[in-house]
Amino acid sequence: MSLRFSLRRIAALAVIGLLALLSVLSTVASADSDTDPMLTSSMGSGQPNSGQPNSSIVTRDKNGNIVQYGNDAILYKSPSQLTGKSAEQLRLLGEALYMQNCASCHGTKADGVLDSGTTGSFPSLIGLGPATIDFWISTGRMPAADTTLVQANRKTPRLTREQGLAIAEWVNSLSPAYPLVPEVNTTDGNSAEGFSLYALNCAACHTITGGGNALAYGTYAPSLHSASATEVVEAIRTGPGNMPNFSGSLSDEQVRDITRYVTANIQNPANPGGLGLGGLGPVAEGFIGLALGVGLLMLAAFWVGDRQ
Ligand code: HEC
Ligand code: HEC
Repeated sequence: MSLRFSLRRIAALAVIGLLALLSVLSTVASADSDTDPMLTSSMGSGQPNSGQPNSSIVTRDKNGNIVQYGNDAILYKSPSQLTGKSAEQLRLLGEALYMQNCASCHGTKADGVLDSGTTGSFPSLIGLGPATIDFWISTGRMPAADTTLVQANRKTPRLTREQGLAIAEWVNSLSPAYPLVPEVNTTDGNSAEGFSLYALNCAACHTITGGGNALAYGTYAPSLHSASATEVVEAIRTGPGNMPNFSGSLSDEQVRDITRYVTANIQNPANPGGLGLGGLGPVAEGFIGLALGVGLLMLAAFWVGDRQ
């Protein structure tokens, strides 16, 4: 055995050893004591609040209409409370926008009845409440682009926030309903509570990393990486499409905690174990680890075995 060959072998072993050491070090170094939600969680309790005006704060306008209700966790506001415009101004604007953008499918009275008298092709919007209308417009699902889809997709919204709120105000004036549009205080939210509630109530459909998943009959639970805090609360309170609404089962505090977990931890993950690899899940990430690790070892082995 030549001296040249054994030097080469020692060098190869050193490279492998260094790689192994580096991977161990990177894991240990980044696994700092960022509070692990698993360790601190316990089920939240609180007065169930369905997004209906049965809470501690209720504000009425001069005509006695409820324009705001809720608590420290979530305040539900009428569209006019969220824009600089009065309810009357919003209604006028909203009616015009509705006729241009929505009436062709949902009917001029928003009851799902078309001018031709056809019913049943498109849903009625009567009695859905402003949060529902705001959700479907602000997530870009409405106005629908393709009515042959089983489920309307999230898109860049066609209407501005104020236009959406104006339409919500007008549709709601036809038959007032709740919930109003939520404004959530995520700053005071508790991510650890949010995590356990999320795991229990949401992960089955949206997956534990919030990546989304297919459901039955060509429908799917979308990724939660794009939704705003308001949209998360609206989805939980109104239950779009095949999603259940959690109106009786989660208190406003619990909804706030889940929303904090989604917008802080899911949308900006901390990855204490090293690289996040896109949160693909243990199988896919294990595969990447294997491919990289075994691949590197094989390269090293080929190099060692190469004796020319
Ligand atoms: C091209 C036809 C079309 C247009 C235009 C349209 N929609 Fe829709 N809308 C639909 C269809 C189809 C659905 C059902 C989609 C689904 O279930 O995924 C729907 C569902 C909805 C829902 C959910 C109803 C429910 O019961 O949950 C709301 C709210 C809604 N639309 C509001 C609007 C508003 C507001 C506009 C105008 C800005 C609008 N839509 C414009 C076709 C349309
Ligand atoms: C039974 C399955 C199911 C469960 C459980 C569920 N969802 Fe959903 N979720 C859906 C579906 C389906 C949609 C899409 C609805 C549509 O577009 O028609 C959705 C949509 C959403 C959206 C809108 C996302 C976007 O970008 O537009 C958010 C946010 C959301 N869900 C959050 C939650 C949270 C938080 C929970 C737990 C409290 C939860 N979901 C529980 C099925 C589910």
